[in-house]
Amino acid sequence: MKADEPILLQPPRGMKDILPEEQPYWEQIRRVAERLARDYGFLRIDVPLLEYANLFTRSIGEGTDIVEKEMYSFATRGGDKVALRPELTAGICRAYIQHGMNVLPKPVKLFSLGPVYRYERPQEGRYREHYQVNFDAFGEQDPILDAQIIQVACRVVQNLGIKSIQVQLNSIGCSECRKEYRELLTNYLESKKNKLCENCKRRLESNPLRVLDCKEDKCSQVAALAPQSIDHLCVECRIHFKSLLEYLDELDLPYTINPNLVRGLDYYTKTVFEIWSGQDEGKKHSLGGGGRYDKLITTMGGEDTPAIGFGLGVERLVLEMKKVQAKPYRMLRPKIFLAQIGDLAKKKSLKLFAELEKNGILTAESFGRGSLKSQLRSADRLKVEITLILGQKEALDNTVIVKNMATGVQEIVRMDKLAEIIKKKLKADNVIVYHENNPHSAEHGSRNG
Ligand code: HAM
Repeated sequence: MKADEPILLQPPRGMKDILPEEQPYWEQIRRVAERLARDYGFLRIDVPLLEYANLFTRSIGEGTDIVEKEMYSFATRGGDKVALRPELTAGICRAYIQHGMNVLPKPVKLFSLGPVYRYERPQEGRYREHYQVNFDAFGEQDPILDAQIIQVACRVVQNLGIKSIQVQLNSIGCSECRKEYRELLTNYLESKKNKLCENCKRRLESNPLRVLDCKEDKCSQVAALAPQSIDHLCVECRIHFKSLLEYLDELDLPYTINPNLVRGLDYYTKTVFEIWSGQDEGKKHSLGGGGRYDKLITTMGGEDTPAIGFGLGVERLVLEMKKVQAKPYRMLRPKIFLAQIGDLAKKKSLKLFAELEKNGILTAESFGRGSLKSQLRSADRLKVEITLILGQKEALDNTVIVKNMATGVQEIVRMDKLAEIIKKKLKADNVIVYHENNPHSAEHGSRNG
């Protein structure tokens, strides 16, 4: 694109703005995920959007769609080959090794939330920039952790009000049993090669497991009769999968074993799973997915560290919340409006506003407007309960008119007593003051907004 071409007033294809009216859904997802992360002992980590490209090619796998077709890779001005992260786990593992987190008590549980980039064909629920909520746990190989991770994934989705979900589950074994299984599968697929789509014919060489979850009808028919990985697990992987199922049975989680679930990233071993919404109508997308990746840390050069995690797609959660009419977060709305008339009042209004803010009283204003009429119109539109009017006389007397918008009743209040009086009025109305000068207060928002 040339510099003198007109600016296109839209983001690149497959990317979108998250406008203020969408934010209550996003806020709800953030809050639910952060709360569960805290409750289950996951600490927040943020890693860069950009990493050296080979971090992803080596971990996600050269033959995967993500690496082969979907990575935003480029060389920097300095000649480094970098890529926008197509997922969060690889960067988190890099950070885990780099910062010596292996010395921490196990499991080391990390939580992250942020955008990832994949050059996919955009459609509903599939974007080139999407956000993921990501949970990963390092250093524990016991299947109880697999069950707990699946439990957390379900809790996040269900706590958002998406009650009807299904866990699809499979075990793709470890590198040992996979070798044998891969050979068996390749032989079977070779015998059906002429029935496969062009893409899968190619995949047969590079990544035969991926043929199993191809969405083309003819490939699904071939996949339905293919040998299944769970029938070819080594003893250790079989015991692992069996105990996971026992834990899940105890949890009453709605799971189905799906022998064709292989996931699109190469680093997985043993357990893989996806969370699907239970709604039948419309196009179905997985809300999230994950699994074990016991060898990834060693592949990257770290010490032997089993790990498991999952990612949930935020946009897909938002779509699903809307579909099932789940409640978004109720954002805090101002109940107070501060109006001013005249030069002196205008000068004093900024300080008064700050005083109210320091006291946790959320206040609206339109200071640039001169006329009281237009300011009161704004107050009406915002449906505030109280309007404070600061005129020339009040500014001189250090007072404020407090007007009840429902009854129209007005009273004059001393400025130094204003915050206290307003707080009392709001409390009487059951409006929570959003923070009492305490940035750590747990309830940072009114539930009455
Ligand atoms: P993934 O299945 O590739 O796994 O992505 C996780 C979730 O992100 C998907 O289930 C889906 O909800 C959402 N998602 C994926 N691609 C798109 C897209 N183009 N547009 C919108 N949403 C999308 C991973 O990325 C693994 N790193 C998860 C993981 C964490 N495994 C272990 N730890």
